[in-house]
Amino acid sequence: MRALAQAQPNIALVKYWGKRDLERNLPATGSLSMTLASLTTTMSVEFSDAFHEDSLSVNGADEPSLLPRVARCLDRIAGASRPRAAIVSESNFPLGAGLASSAAAFAALTVAASKAAGLSRDASALARLAGVSSGSAARSLFGGIVELHCGDDDISVGSIAAIDDWPLTVVIAINDDSAKPLSSGEAMIRSAATSPFYSCWIERQEADLEAARRAVARRDFAALAKVSEHNCLKMHSVMWTSRPPVVYWNKVTLACMEAVRRLQQSEHPVFFTIDAGPQVKAVCLPEAVAPVQQAFCGIAGVTRVMTSGLGAGARVLDGA
Ligand code: PMV
Repeated sequence: MRALAQAQPNIALVKYWGKRDLERNLPATGSLSMTLASLTTTMSVEFSDAFHEDSLSVNGADEPSLLPRVARCLDRIAGASRPRAAIVSESNFPLGAGLASSAAAFAALTVAASKAAGLSRDASALARLAGVSSGSAARSLFGGIVELHCGDDDISVGSIAAIDDWPLTVVIAINDDSAKPLSSGEAMIRSAATSPFYSCWIERQEADLEAARRAVARRDFAALAKVSEHNCLKMHSVMWTSRPPVVYWNKVTLACMEAVRRLQQSEHPVFFTIDAGPQVKAVCLPEAVAPVQQAFCGIAGVTRVMTSGLGAGARVLDGA
């Protein structure tokens, strides 16, 4: 009873920041994202009655501190009386640093564990399960450009543009590989409880979702750039005005944002977005990829530049 799955992170253009139901980890609003292609997490899950306890290895190192959250995810997928599991995870990008590693990890874990438990669930059911462990993981079950709708009791997720529909590329400037000091889950709860801007942020999400949806339907890059940057800056304003403030940016983050602004002034089709970490992601049309890579590589403090097109949703791999 072993299965292997792969998933990629997704980068939100209309962000998820806030929960409506902590128990079920339901997001307060919908969100819209791009699933990446070249940043990958591969997850192997083996259930066996011969195991006395669960074990987890991440990039070759035992990670017992991450096991409780992983074990709760497995219980939801295969039932609390499931056999114990050996989980082995490998990623080719920094973890816990604002690159949506938990989205990729919980999407891959959900797919691998369902398969290893012999259960057949469609992508929508897997997305709902993954979303209980990590809100953004639900979106990594689907490829291309993805929208998550939030109803009163549940989420529904689906692709609104396929991988080949629009040649969007993301250039990521990594400036700090270390794990974030405060998890996004804890930070969201703090924002909802303390930021005076939180209710305004939530109220305006539907209008931003509608603008982003229309931009995607029309392949209107300028309109997508406008709503995505604004949505990102609103989310960070909510973080900054939380008490104590939640600030994931550093001076290299600002330098990268300025570089994107300069490229925009010379008519390059690019915009930035930033999540719960200091890395800047530049979303580009193909003609802007090389100038953005060059600009990021020239910024002091940028340690690595990664580039990815749109990728597929989480899936089972042969070879378990
Ligand atoms: O799914 P979580 O708990 O890792 O939260 C994701 C939060 C952001 O990445 C900042 C925004 C988003 O929509 O992905």
